[in-house]
Amino acid sequence: MIERPAAIARIDAAFTVHPAVALVGPRQCGKTTLARMYAKKKADVTFFDLERAMDQRRLEAPEQALSPLGGLVVIDEVQRAPSLFETLRVLLDRSRARDSCCWAARLRGCSGIPRRRLRAGWG
Ligand SMILES: Nc1ncnc2c1ncn2[C@@H]1O[C@H](COP(=O)(O)OP(=O)(O)O)[C@@H](O)[C@H]1O
Ligand SMILES: [Mg+2]
Repeated sequence: MIERPAAIARIDAAFTVHPAVALVGPRQCGKTTLARMYAKKKADVTFFDLERAMDQRRLEAPEQALSPLGGLVVIDEVQRAPSLFETLRVLLDRSRARDSCCWAARLRGCSGIPRRRLRAGWG
């Protein structure tokens, strides 16, 4: 596996400023792999892959599913559930109000949404 330290540093930098981060690019460019690499460095990570029926079911009631989560939340293939973005905005705003950070990683095929400030410096 080719390490991607510059890309990981860019995600970290983005999270210092923004509550959510989107990874966007053509298919097979490495979005999911990068998200997983990034997530591996975080202690508290929840990963959803909206190409999996089980994960689609987990997010059928998104606010209930996402609001208890802390740490980094990654939602791969988030474009499959565009209505999720409304919930994400609400959760991100709420989280900000608590002085914590949320982020959503949207990897045009792959996305993620996290809910609190990244402690160590996505996920
Ligand atoms: N850093 C990397 N080092 C080696 N192989 C990689 C790397 N990133 C992606 N790949 C490979 O490229 C292919 C596409 O990666 P993937 O993350 O699934 O792309 P995407 O999510 O953008 O469609 C996969 O076979 C994956 O193993
Ligand atoms: Mg992918």
